[in-house]
Amino acid sequence: MSVRRLAPDHVQPTSFAFNAANENWADQQIAKYPEGRQASAVIPLLWKAQEQHDGWLPRAAIEAVARKLGMAPMRVLEVATFYTMFALQPVGEHFIQLCGTTPCALRGAEALKKVCEDVIGPQSTVTADGKLSWLEVECLGACCNAPMAQINFDYYEDLTPDNFRKLLGDLREGRPTKPGPQVDRSCSEPLGGGDTLKDPALFDGSVIGAGDWQKRITRQREDAIKIASEKAAAEAMAKAEAEAAATMAKTGPTDVKTAPAPEAAAPARPKPSEPNQPASAAQDTPSATSKAIKDNPAEGTAEKAPAAKAAPVAEPAPAVAESKPQLLTAARGGKGDDLELIWGVGPRLGKMLNEMGVWHFDQVAAWTPAELAWVDARLTGFKGRAVRDDWISQAKKLATGWRPESKLGDKPAN
Ligand code: FES
Repeated sequence: MSVRRLAPDHVQPTSFAFNAANENWADQQIAKYPEGRQASAVIPLLWKAQEQHDGWLPRAAIEAVARKLGMAPMRVLEVATFYTMFALQPVGEHFIQLCGTTPCALRGAEALKKVCEDVIGPQSTVTADGKLSWLEVECLGACCNAPMAQINFDYYEDLTPDNFRKLLGDLREGRPTKPGPQVDRSCSEPLGGGDTLKDPALFDGSVIGAGDWQKRITRQREDAIKIASEKAAAEAMAKAEAEAAATMAKTGPTDVKTAPAPEAAAPARPKPSEPNQPASAAQDTPSATSKAIKDNPAEGTAEKAPAAKAAPVAEPAPAVAESKPQLLTAARGGKGDDLELIWGVGPRLGKMLNEMGVWHFDQVAAWTPAELAWVDARLTGFKGRAVRDDWISQAKKLATGWRPESKLGDKPAN
């Protein structure tokens, strides 16, 4: 533990002032902070003052920084005496900050201190040739390579009394030195090389059961779709029953007989119905039901509950000049995109598009309004859908790689 005191009076300069370049630099640092918060620049200014004054901070420099920042000198002194990055005593050309905290102490820092005392002398004294001085400091954050010392701006690690003594000699004589670990290891890897995490099985996914988790996630998603579908069906059933009851109240029981409650129902977010859409294929599985509902919310109800409430009729598409888009004879690479991810496209429309020569999102994304209109006009039984559901915008989003959580997910263009 070092004692943080100002240097004795006889080594203190009578005054300190930033030179012109540093004054300008200090002004730029201060300007980074809001008005009234200039004190935030205290550490950079002290650092620059130390750099200008041969690597240590005299009292006059601390007071000059206090004046510059409009701070009480005591406040600046508190900062300067807290951080060992600020040297309060004159330092040698090579200033050794030797870590004495527990990890370094356990790994031999005490012996290194003795080397310092032997080669340099007591802490905070400079050798007669002005080359070396040292100070014990707290942890410098290189504990895994303990024991270590910071010398000027470099770290020297894995020190032993022998290599440390040699290092001090090299510094004093101006011989080149090698910062970093002083033993045969790279950076902070274990001594002797890595000896953990060497089993290749750790990195091929087999240990965590790669594949199993994918199945688990797929199952969870399917369960979520099923739950959402059942919930939507229950809500729609309740709504249909309420509407049937209201109709009965208005028209009498005869009308209600022709309007049985639906067996399947529309999702919570209904879409306009389409005419002549069969429901049979959509009822095989919950997810198929969900998909069919997305494709045609009226599909689950139209044939089973034709009169409970008149289904909304799709608005006719505005008259747009038609232009035939570029079509394919087959899917590129033998596999087309899942066009059913486009809101409003179900199995029938997907098949119809494929037969037309449309297989990929990027095809649809590139259509002009006239090309969309050309396709729309040929969607037998679904005319108006492509324009109404803005397939181009949806396909653009899907072509970027975006995918909904499930086929009950958000409309791509949203
Ligand atoms: S204890 Fe010495 S660097 Fe952390």
